[in-house]
Amino acid sequence: MTSVLETASAVTARAPAKVNLELGVGALRPDGFHSLSTVYQAVGVFEEVTVATADEWGVSVRGRDAELVPTDESNLALRAAMRLAERAAVEPVHVTIRKEIPVAGGMAGGSADAAATLVACDALWDLGLGRSGLDPIAAELGSDVPFLLHGGTAVGSGRGELVTPVLARGSYHWVFVPTPVSGLSTPEVYAAFDELSAGHDVPEPEPSPAMMAALRQGEPEALGVVLSNDLQAAAVRLQPQIGDVIDAAMSFGALGAIVSGSGPTVALLAAGQEGAIDLAVSLTASGAAADVIRAIGPVAGAHVIPAPRLT
Ligand code: C5P
Repeated sequence: MTSVLETASAVTARAPAKVNLELGVGALRPDGFHSLSTVYQAVGVFEEVTVATADEWGVSVRGRDAELVPTDESNLALRAAMRLAERAAVEPVHVTIRKEIPVAGGMAGGSADAAATLVACDALWDLGLGRSGLDPIAAELGSDVPFLLHGGTAVGSGRGELVTPVLARGSYHWVFVPTPVSGLSTPEVYAAFDELSAGHDVPEPEPSPAMMAALRQGEPEALGVVLSNDLQAAAVRLQPQIGDVIDAAMSFGALGAIVSGSGPTVALLAAGQEGAIDLAVSLTASGAAADVIRAIGPVAGAHVIPAPRLT
């Protein structure tokens, strides 16, 4: 019997954004990356990617910040499709990305595009690799891509690409504040971290027992006080207004406020759905934030969805 996917000429997948609940950064490695110990949580802000059989390789981008995303072969989604195609005799695809995640915001939007593309191409080309079969290619594409294949809540080690699920209870309401100015590039923030830590001993990072206990407990109040990010000082140094957003959010009742990954998006943990609505309204009405994104975590990783949207 022929399956639907075997005859499909287009497949759509979606992948979530991430927030790092804990980001411990170690020393710079000889390969130019830093050793990390991080706790990722996938949150419900989604990129949607459609791959469709085409005469030539290509990519187009719609939605939030679309004009900031390259449409040449430096596009991470297109690279993901072409890299996967090296493993099989397949026809080219055109990749269409519908964006919700801010570009260069520290929420792994480009990595989500790559993860969704891998899952969609695996289905379109009927490769049968599944998430674990896609992991090695995901890791080559970027440090966050393997986590976005799997989703949930997980510890990332190595340079972030070695992902182990953790026992985590509860559901969390987040408010994200994207920066009103330009994004921060990840290498720039790591370079600022190196400058700030020059002359200090940088210990090998490991997951903190306090974070693991808070995740087992499953209460947002417990998680809020253990959020931590070793890149935060570097990100605030490069974009001081991040600190103002954090201060405002705490005064408006956030349970925790942290730079998301390498920033500049600020992630705020709220007390339930009502707390998230109150926080979002207070931040925008006071002018502390021009724009907010509300999302719940954890959510699942990249997955095929039934049919492409027509818009
Ligand atoms: O892997 P990814 O594409 O996200 O990395 C982008 C850049 O961020 C790297 O080239 C490196 O400069 C920096 N990085 C790092 N250590 C990590 C992850 C990223 O220094 N663990």
